[in-house]
Amino acid sequence: MNDLIQLTRDGDIAIITINNPPVNAISPGVPEGISEAIDQVNNDSAVTAVVVIGGGRTFIAGADIKEFTKMTSGKAKTGPGLLPLLLKIENCSKPVVMAIHGTAFGGGLEVAMAGHYRVAAPGAQVGQPEVKLGLIPGAAGTQRLPRLAGVAKAVEMCTDGNPVKASEALQAGIVDQLIEGDLLKGAVAFAREIAHRPAPKTRERNQKLGTPQQNAPIFAAARDTVRKKQRNLIAPLAAIDAIEAATRLAFEEGCQVEARLFIDCLYSDQSKALIHVFFGEREVAKVPDIPKETPIIPVNSAAVVGAGTMGGGIAMVFANAGIPVVLKEADQAALDRGLANIRKNYAVSVQRGRFTQAVVDERLKLIKPTLDYGDFGQADIVIEAVFEGMGLKREVFSELDRVCKPEAILASNTSTLNIDEIASATSRPASVIGTHFFSPANVMRLLEIVRGKASSKEVIATCMQLSKKLGKIGVLVGNCRGFVGNRMFHPYVRESVFLVEEGASVEAVDKALYDFGMAMGPLATNDLAGLDVGWRIRKEYRHLEKPGIRQAFAGDNLCELGRFGQKIGAGWYKYDENRRPTPDPEVAALTRKWSAEAGIAQRQIPAEEIVDRCIYALVNEGARILNEGYATRAVDIDIIYINGYGFPAYRGGPMWYADTVGLKKVYDRITEFQSVQGELWEPAPLLKKLAAEGRTFADFDQQKVAAA
Ligand code: NAI
Repeated sequence: MNDLIQLTRDGDIAIITINNPPVNAISPGVPEGISEAIDQVNNDSAVTAVVVIGGGRTFIAGADIKEFTKMTSGKAKTGPGLLPLLLKIENCSKPVVMAIHGTAFGGGLEVAMAGHYRVAAPGAQVGQPEVKLGLIPGAAGTQRLPRLAGVAKAVEMCTDGNPVKASEALQAGIVDQLIEGDLLKGAVAFAREIAHRPAPKTRERNQKLGTPQQNAPIFAAARDTVRKKQRNLIAPLAAIDAIEAATRLAFEEGCQVEARLFIDCLYSDQSKALIHVFFGEREVAKVPDIPKETPIIPVNSAAVVGAGTMGGGIAMVFANAGIPVVLKEADQAALDRGLANIRKNYAVSVQRGRFTQAVVDERLKLIKPTLDYGDFGQADIVIEAVFEGMGLKREVFSELDRVCKPEAILASNTSTLNIDEIASATSRPASVIGTHFFSPANVMRLLEIVRGKASSKEVIATCMQLSKKLGKIGVLVGNCRGFVGNRMFHPYVRESVFLVEEGASVEAVDKALYDFGMAMGPLATNDLAGLDVGWRIRKEYRHLEKPGIRQAFAGDNLCELGRFGQKIGAGWYKYDENRRPTPDPEVAALTRKWSAEAGIAQRQIPAEEIVDRCIYALVNEGARILNEGYATRAVDIDIIYINGYGFPAYRGGPMWYADTVGLKKVYDRITEFQSVQGELWEPAPLLKKLAAEGRTFADFDQQKVAAA
């Protein structure tokens, strides 16, 4: 046996321990080791029953995800996988008790289900999360789970992929007994108790599989929910198909259906993209010039300036993480308004059952309202979220410089302003950084961490680490106008407005991008954020615009008419009192009139062109940002877009999506747009280069990592 698996004895009970730290993933060697241990147990007449347990902090947490990538890139074989091992466990001549603590996810649960019994520590969790990587269980999970838990529960677990707590697993029949205290001891006692009883094979347990009449409505409802809630995703539907096969076919045939569907999913663009995102979320935490051992500044208390939309949300983020936070406003009325909003947001969470009133009360106690900077002396980090304006921000920072302790981090939530200029209002620019939260701050996962030219490594490393503590994904970006996300969003929205000016309807533009997978169309997003925000910024920067370059006008014209979006009930759409949008014929008439005045020819625009123009606008700007070094890697841009801008994760982010289309094709299409629109569509030099060399952004990232 190899050193990943140990076989020991406790009297007549054999104990197989899996030791593949940190999470006992099923890497090469683990199945082989278990298989050998089962052989030995079969041949050992002194053994009456077997316990399988994970060493360290968990049972088998899941498959080794790198193995999937190796398979699709041809570096590893796709074979029968774990199926033969699981049959061998199930056919073992002695009853096998799986003892679960920590997590038994994916392949881990599939192994557990091949045992004859399962016992679990009360804190354990089980689940089939494959769907989150665009996959389905591939080792008979879709065949054994409905036999233990019933069809409805199996469908739920394989389509939403969420973990199930031990108590719930017990109730569902996935686990036979919970064991308080020492799990191994309890499992051995349990094994002794069942040692001489006939061992039930999960694959032969058909009682919970239901009849076609009982199952039809379950499958129909599940498919319906998936189409709505997991729009465009193929894996959840495949999981339902596989479970349906379990209810109609013999076990072996059901396994064959599952295997076929698993392979379809594994080689799909969706799964490759989701696996890219999985690794990407871990990759972005690494910053090439900031070593792991960079000292971290302890953050045990925080302060926020401004209790508006963002400041209030940011205060909640700290309170939710258990960090006390002082919240400052300019006057009492604004402070009261801000606190009322925080209470209202928490009340909604209680209503929706996300947490209890008692939890909310604890969190509210952590937020200390004030009008006085005198309360800032203890804060380890301050986040400024006052109105967007350089004069005001500089005033606030010079005040912070005066009142905060020397080691405090001074951060700005600005979405457009220059961090270096803000930092220069203090005597300690090394402590100044941007922390750009997204609205609503307590919900959105993205945090752009904006590196100023003087920001110290300690301050950057601390903010990156803090983002995790706050439940966010921190991505380090450079200090350019709009940073990464908003800088790319600008040409994206510009194209969507151009398309309307050229004759596409507002609804057609939004629908094309929604169907592509965006959470919302660009114009509906515009209405939500407020059309006036961009309008004010454009007015401020108008003097920087080059003459002779096409400018979008329809959105600004709507603002001149007071149509600021959702908040006033009219923007690109009109809204009822519940903020439900309907197309507005007035907008259609107005845009036609404005276009005629500007001499823009009207035409039918296919959905494909709408998508290409908007998405390639993102890609082209992204390539520029990458080349200029404002983003560390292409994957950083992908993670930003998925977590902050509603880009579909199953397309892997804009840069990964461009890779899947092929950069040459993207480049050619961009030059087509350039021939019509000129300079706005000049291809980014990096895109041009990679396309010419037949390379990808992923490949560019790899080279960069290798060079670092
Ligand atoms: P807001 O207008 O809702 O809130 C700003 C608050 O700051 C107001 O309540 C105001 O009373 C307060 N304030 C002004 N001067 C102050 C002072 N000297 N001391 C204390 N409080 C003061 O604005 P919002 O939307 O929250 O934006 C704040 C910052 O966040 C801006 O820099 C904005 O660009 C940025 N941002 C906004 C996003 C959004 O979606 N609204 C997204 C990301 C960043």
